[in-house]
Amino acid sequence: MENSWAANILVTGGCGFIGSNFIRHLLAQPMFTGRIVNVDALTYAGNPLSLADVVAAHGARYRLAHLDICDADGLAALAAEEAIDLIVHFAAESHVDRSIVSPDAFVQTNIVGTHVLLQLARRLPRLTRFHHVSTDEVYGSLGPEGFFTEETPYQPNSPYSASKAASDHLVRAYHATYGLPVTISNCSNNYGPYHFPEKLIPLMILNGLAGKPLPVYGDGQQVRDWLYVEDHCAAIEAILRGGRPGETYNVGGRNELTNLAVVEQICDLLDELAPPLPGGAARRGLIAFVKDRPGHDRRYAIDCGKLERELGWHPVETFGSGLRQTVQWYLEHEEWVAQVRSGAYQDWIKTQYGTP
Ligand code: NAD
Ligand code: TYD
Repeated sequence: MENSWAANILVTGGCGFIGSNFIRHLLAQPMFTGRIVNVDALTYAGNPLSLADVVAAHGARYRLAHLDICDADGLAALAAEEAIDLIVHFAAESHVDRSIVSPDAFVQTNIVGTHVLLQLARRLPRLTRFHHVSTDEVYGSLGPEGFFTEETPYQPNSPYSASKAASDHLVRAYHATYGLPVTISNCSNNYGPYHFPEKLIPLMILNGLAGKPLPVYGDGQQVRDWLYVEDHCAAIEAILRGGRPGETYNVGGRNELTNLAVVEQICDLLDELAPPLPGGAARRGLIAFVKDRPGHDRRYAIDCGKLERELGWHPVETFGSGLRQTVQWYLEHEEWVAQVRSGAYQDWIKTQYGTP
């Protein structure tokens, strides 16, 4: 096929939110004729169920390797079986609130795990790219004006963002020191299908659906720049295909909103699309202001001009169109929600896949 892309790609964390969307995105591209090996430890956030449709449609070109990215020997054995051309590294502990309560796993997976992968990458003879998926949270918090650019100094405020910042530095250092062909993307908050329901948007959708309180931290005036996950996947594909080794690309949706505005929009969409609450009460009445998150960053906003200019990427979804699709998806995927929330599902994963 003309312009076909036959790379063998090792994706880490492909059973998580963005990783599963990325694998689905890539295997659905007609020009992608390669193979994907998904290395995932199947933590509470990782779900083979999120790729059941991918296995059904593209099983011969997809393999799940149940492995911890800190397991150097396991990764080496896998690499001996698979001729890897590219690594796309999503695997991480990703929830800020969890990092405040128990930061150890963040240091282990996000920093040590990234380092183990980088060491593996240096030994892969066919490797043409190590792409590291990171966050805008490494840049810290903005005031009411301005945007994060690729030149903004790092100033992470949570154990999560500090561990991601450390991993970004390791990736850059492996380019400068060993010439590893790396790229890094720092992306704003994603939302969309298969998002684990501890993060703001899926939690509010599911609580709102059930008529439960909607906990908004502090005054709800913190600003995030929301990006529909499919737009993020397209950005990563563009960086893999055209990005320059050694470069960082910021990815954002130009969708700045306060948390309160996001929650209000979710309430209104649920009132429109979901069964009414008892007595027909408006869901905005469920909003409950609760104690603020310690070290809560006030505002994130991304300048994604470099990615737009150099690689021609643009976000397709507006927040309105993306949020509507997301609410609809959660309304239509009750089984996925029930399973990822159940302890029974975590037990089943252990019997199916064991402990990595
Ligand atoms: P997620 O928590 O939904 O998924 C993480 C995945 O990594 C899970 O499948 C989990 O099982 C796996 N994993 C965790 N520890 C592992 C280990 N030690 N070894 C192997 N696999 C392991 O995360 P996400 O929201 O999909 O985020 C993916 C990446 O994108 C992360 O690196 C995150 O920092 C980054 N990111 C996320 C967002 C966002 O809004 N979600 C925004 C910007 C960047
Ligand atoms: P989150 O989805 O955890 O992403 P991040 O902390 O990585 O930005 O939270 C998004 C925003 O929503 C953040 O400002 C914290 C806030 N938030 C709430 O107000 N209530 C909640 O229950 C959650 C989970 C988050």
